[in-house]
Amino acid sequence: MNDMKFKLANWFKKTSPSVKNIPKHIAIIMDGNGRWARQRGMPRTAGHRVGMDRVRDAVAVCLEYGVPFLTLYAFSTENWKRPEEEVRFLMDLFEEALKSEVDKLDRQNVRVRFIGLRHNLRPSLRKLMEESEARTSGNTALTLNLAINYGGRSEIVSAVQKIAVAVRQGEVDPEEINEAFFGNYLFTAGQPDPDLLIKPGGESRISNFLLWQIAYTEIYYSTKYWPDFKKADMRDAIVFYSQRERRFGGVKRGESV
Ligand code: FPP
Repeated sequence: MNDMKFKLANWFKKTSPSVKNIPKHIAIIMDGNGRWARQRGMPRTAGHRVGMDRVRDAVAVCLEYGVPFLTLYAFSTENWKRPEEEVRFLMDLFEEALKSEVDKLDRQNVRVRFIGLRHNLRPSLRKLMEESEARTSGNTALTLNLAINYGGRSEIVSAVQKIAVAVRQGEVDPEEINEAFFGNYLFTAGQPDPDLLIKPGGESRISNFLLWQIAYTEIYYSTKYWPDFKKADMRDAIVFYSQRERRFGGVKRGESV
């Protein structure tokens, strides 16, 4: 078999014919790193490190299926409450990951973006974030939003503040404020809302993630901890989504009253 045929055959094998309805945007709450490590008698930070391998897997599966947007919850505005050592480890891990992964992400045609508040992150991390965004800004296969120091409520409050200022300055008429308008003031402006939210870790909490954007999102829960959530699990989540019938508050198409 020539190389092209082999690649095609492999692609069909991976993208099973039953997967017709591919999500345009997948969001993931990468939960359970600490518990995964503790179960093995390791420090919680070891779970975060293995969790990084799963980030690579998630990107690879999105590219494999042609999912155009992936948003990963890496650090919440509440995570500052963790022990100082764990916070420092995570910030170091983000810096290390940006230094070591951006080349590959760029080659994979992935655009990297960050959502969340930047002002209280360390300058060295902020610089790497800006460089990664600039370097990959022209990439088109997948937009990878990394949520660092992100909180859904603070995102909504900051959108309201910006709109209030625009109204006060006479730039915005309150009558023109509708849902689409509001969405343009969020970090995810211009992107589709997540179709699928993946929540590993066995708990069914949203944890202040994308509160506005997930109004109609399908949620896939898994009892697996994030470090165990491998490519096959990502594919299962996509298949789960493809079988859902989304009604957005309406009724089944063609159904009579
Ligand atoms: C939640 O598990 C996980 C985090 C707060 C950190 C996730 C970060 C990574 C996997 C690294 C990603 C890096 C980049 C650059 C995207 P937890 O610690 O709350 O686990 P627990 O619920 O078991 O305590």
